[in-house]
Amino acid sequence: MNIILLGPPGAGKGTQARVLCEKYSLVQLSTGDMLREAKKADSEIGKRAAAIMAKGELVTDDVVIGLIEDKIAEGGNVEGFIFDGFPRTLGQADALEELLMKTGQNLDHVIELFVDDNKLIERITGRFTCSSCGELYHKATKPPKEKGLCDICGAAGSFKFRQDDNEDSLKTRLLAYYRDTSPLIGFYHAKKILRKIDGLGSIDEIQKNIKNVIGKFN
Ligand code: AP5
Repeated sequence: MNIILLGPPGAGKGTQARVLCEKYSLVQLSTGDMLREAKKADSEIGKRAAAIMAKGELVTDDVVIGLIEDKIAEGGNVEGFIFDGFPRTLGQADALEELLMKTGQNLDHVIELFVDDNKLIERITGRFTCSSCGELYHKATKPPKEKGLCDICGAAGSFKFRQDDNEDSLKTRLLAYYRDTSPLIGFYHAKKILRKIDGLGSIDEIQKNIKNVIGKFN
């Protein structure tokens, strides 16, 4: 099973992807995480992407398609993928279809998480992650159960904030979403694989709704 999680910055794609991966034995492919790793490794791609990401603009299609192509080729014996933050343009959507076709796979569900813009600002400006395992937290809605300790891996005091999680960058990211990514909603609706989910409930409620919708269409 292959799933795309579609939604504006802060809609909860990464949060839901981590839980869905476990439930359905899928592999999460987040182009945002891949680009941040490339930046950390100081690779050519990372260096080129860093300034673009800090401003909140989109990295070019060829770069992100190349990253996804490598991961699908590595694939191995997996049940499928959850694409988190990819595709973000119609060009990327076409490329993904081709890449999956080449390996005899289909796209099964495109889950659109819709959330009001004002809520996105709260989500983005309160987010932090565990540097050790990548678990996502939020100052108000999902703090660690024990202060300073990661709930998942137990690492102490190793939390980090993202450089692009500020209001200025969010404005550009939202603009990029509505201009370049939102046309994908109509594209996948026409293909009859779009599933719309209200992204405003609790993390558990949304998870339950996604599982229900996947169950209904499988
Ligand atoms: P990327 O890393 O993909 O960022 P994004 O799309 O802006 O999405 P986010 O990671 O910000 O949000 P999310 O929806 O995953 O929310 P999360 O679950 O973390 O991309 C970063 C940059 O890389 C882009 O701007 C671009 O430059 C580049 N890039 C990446 N992919 C690209 C591509 N394909 N093409 C071109 N460029 C690309 O949740 C947010 C917060 O809210 C967390 O703190 C969480 O705990 C909290 N939260 C989540 N759900 C709930 C809930 N239900 N209730 C309360 N709090 C919640």
